[in-house]
Order: sequence, then C-alpha cells, then structure tokens
Amino acid sequence: MDIFEAINTRRSIRKFTGEVISDEEIKTILKAGFQAPSAHNMQPREFIVLKDKEVLEAMAQFHPYAKMLPNAGCGIVVCGDKNLQTEFGFLISDCSASLENMLLAAHGLGLGAVWCGIYPKDDLMKSTSELLNLPENIVPVGVIAVGKKAHEVNPRDRYNESKVHYDRW
Ligand SMILES: Cc1cc2nc3c(=O)[nH]c(=O)nc-3n(C[C@H](O)[C@H](O)[C@H](O)COP(=O)(O)O)c2cc1C
Repeated sequence: MDIFEAINTRRSIRKFTGEVISDEEIKTILKAGFQAPSAHNMQPREFIVLKDKEVLEAMAQFHPYAKMLPNAGCGIVVCGDKNLQTEFGFLISDCSASLENMLLAAHGLGLGAVWCGIYPKDDLMKSTSELLNLPENIVPVGVIAVGKKAHEVNPRDRYNESKVHYDRW
C-alpha cells in the first residue's frame, strides 16, 4: 500500500472476527514499532505481545475502552523504559510514535487495529503493570488491539485549513 493511501485511509477498527493473526504479521507490526523515531535515538521501547486469551480478557476487564481485546487477533502493549529515557515527555512521545507506526503497519497488512490508551491513567497503568509483571522502570503507554476486521470504517478527510498557520500564529 502506498504510504499516503495508508495514512489517509487508516481508521480505528474495534470489531474483529476473532481469528488469530500470524507470527509473521505480528513481527511486521513490531518492526514498524521499532522503526519509529525516538528522542536522542534512545529507542526506549519494549513491546509485550498478548496472545493468551486469559491475559487479553483480564486487560479488557479493567480497561473500560478496550473491551475488543479478547476478540482481536492479539494485543501489543507498548512500554517505555524510564532508565533509557529519563525525560518523561520524550518517553511518552517515543512510545506514541511507535504506536502510530504499528497502526499503519497493521492497516498496510489489511488488518484492523485500534490504539487503546493506558498512560496517563494511573489506574490503567497500575493494573497493566501488575497484570504483565512489569518492572518498576517500565511504563505502559498504550496497547493496540489488532486482528482480522469484522467491519470497515470509511476514511475521513480531516484536513482543516483554518488550523494551519504560516510563520506566525
Ligand atoms: C492516546 C489515544 C488513546 C486512545 N484510546 C482509545 C481507547 O482506549 N479505546 C478506543 O476504542 N480507542 C482509543 N483511541 C482511538 C481514538 O478513539 C481514535 O483514534 C479516534 O476516535 C479517531 O478515529 P480514527 O482512529 O478512526 O481515525 C485512542 C487514541 C489515542 C491517540
């Protein structure tokens, strides 16, 4: 898929067929996550692939907006390592860049995906850390649910000239 087609047609998909996706597809998505830019090129990201239905269900139990997880092909949690990037804002930005790359990669593979936020919700960060046994220095930022689409969502053109400023506000 052409990069502009991918960017312009990606939408959040929240209904999945329940089929698993292949390890090759998962690796392609992970690679896209690793390829994202990061501040000072610290690459402070860690990825946790969730395939176990029990884990996916446990996450859906405490995350009010991630109820689609158990029916997705898998979940991928993107975390930041506070020891590698000590500037917290950069850590979140780096993980966010990975999350978006992964959404686009999933779309490029013809799969559906949605980004479910974890940071900055203290309760979601705590529950995720406990469920996944995350070390103290590892911050969960978001999880993507990815799988075979059970529906299509139409692309939207969101370009808004009134929000574009040139040289000064
Ligand atoms: C930081 C962040 C957190 C989000 N959290 C959730 C979430 O918890 N559950 C969900 O279904 N969608 C979540 N989304 C997806 C947004 O709702 C979605 O991107 C937005 O409605 C625009 O729709 P689109 O992705 O189809 O373009 C999140 C997106 C971002 C960037």
